[in-house]
Formats: sequence, C-alpha cells, structure tokens
Amino acid sequence: MKLMKVLFAAMMVGVLAIAAGCGNNDKIVVATDAAFAPFEYLDKGEIVGFDVDILEAVMAEAGLEYELKNTGWDPLFAALDDNQVGFGISGISITPDRMESYDFSNPYFESKLLAVFPESLKISGMQDLAGLKIGVQNGTTGQEAVEKILGKNHSAISKYDSTALAFMSLKAGNVDVVVTDNTVAEEYIKNNPNDKLQTYTDPTLFAPEYYAMAFPKGSELKADIDAALQKVIESGKYAEIFEKWFGYAPNTEVLLQKAE
Ligand code: ARG
Repeated sequence: MKLMKVLFAAMMVGVLAIAAGCGNNDKIVVATDAAFAPFEYLDKGEIVGFDVDILEAVMAEAGLEYELKNTGWDPLFAALDDNQVGFGISGISITPDRMESYDFSNPYFESKLLAVFPESLKISGMQDLAGLKIGVQNGTTGQEAVEKILGKNHSAISKYDSTALAFMSLKAGNVDVVVTDNTVAEEYIKNNPNDKLQTYTDPTLFAPEYYAMAFPKGSELKADIDAALQKVIESGKYAEIFEKWFGYAPNTEVLLQKAE
C-alpha cells in the first residue's frame, strides 16, 4: 500500500514536470530591436520589416511556433546570455567577438557600414572623421569601426541605445555623422530628403558583414533554422521577400556559398 502511494506520487511529479515543460516549449521567443528600418521597426505598434518576413517564412518552413518580442538591442544579447529567448533576429552581423559567445545561423543578408552626414560636410577619407562628432548605436559594428579609427571610448563618439536615436541626434545637430549599416542609412536618407544627407564608405575599413540569427551557445534550434532558411532561399521565397523590401533581386549565390 505504501509502495503504491510512493509510486503514485512519483508519477504525479513526472506528469507535472512534463506539463510545465510543454508550457515553456511550444512557443519560441525571438528577440529583436525594432528601431532598425527596414529590417525591423514599429508600424502602428506592429513589428514589421525584412527580418520579420524572413523569420515568418523560416519558422513556417521549420513548422515552429514563435513570438517576436521587441526587447531592444543590449537586452537582446543579455537574453541570449541567460537563455531567456530561443534566438535573436535584428540585423545582427556575424563578428569574431560575438562568435565567442553565440552561435549563428547561416547568413541571410550582406551589409556594409556607411557614414551618413550633411551635404555641407566634406568627408573623402576616414581621417576626415577626426574632429567631428560621431553617433553610433551602442554595441554595434558601427561603434566598433569608429573606435578602431578614433580609439576606444573617444570623447567624440556618442553611443545611443538605438540607431533611430542616433539619427534623431544627427537631425538635432548634436552629432555630425552617424555610422551605421548601408541599407538602414539609405532608408533613412530616402525618408528624410529635406535633411540633405550624403554618405561615405571606406572599402578597406568597412568590409562586408553578414546578418544571421543569433542563438545561445549550443542551441539545438540552429540546425532546424539553417535547414529551413536554406529551403526558403532555394524555393524563391527569400527572393520574393527581398524584392518586396528592396525593389531588386538578391544575390543568393553569396549567401548559399557562405552557408556551411
Ligand atoms: N549590423 C550591426 C551589428 O550587428 C547593427 C545591427 C543593429 N540592429 C538593430 N536592430 N538595432 O552590429
């Protein structure tokens, strides 16, 4: 009799444990910083953008349920560190530094950095940045590149929590230049024609970067996501989404070559 009771109790503990596990596992939380148009931004309170559409296609292909959460940029990485989210999608470039802490999916977009500044300024080389006030988003490759030129924590560098805030600061005249990803820079310039902005890029300092989804180290999701992404690219769905957002056909060769 006593044995039966113990067995029953043990069974109940098992059932509860499984139920709790299911509750957490059925929806994957995906983190983003939705202030990075056209990749992820808020439109009437809804997160939209190229990344959002790619994510939707990949998760549908993988047969996975998810919830996209606007965590912001720094908290996105903190959430990965603490295993609070399944992964992040946010125009995140694969970098050697980040590879030490996170696993990356295969790449889904090629990007490079641009300096954005008013037409009245003359910048014809990175050395011309010296003496100017430069805005970057904190913890981005833009910050890294500018610090390589001017030095870490240089007083001329202002770091903002989002790229949108860096652009607001440029508009207000608090900084002279913003260094950010080319597609985001071009989108901003297109949407703010009265600001009369131009761009400069340095081919040697600003090498191509590749966006990928970032996972906590050792994530078992990566393999499924990579397989689904591959199918989304090969089926033409990727090209459809790319054309919708950028108006021209993508070079998917580069991406497939870069995939392991
Ligand atoms: N590609 C750059 C990086 O990885 C900037 C990305 C910023 N993304 C964003 N959603 N704010 O550092």
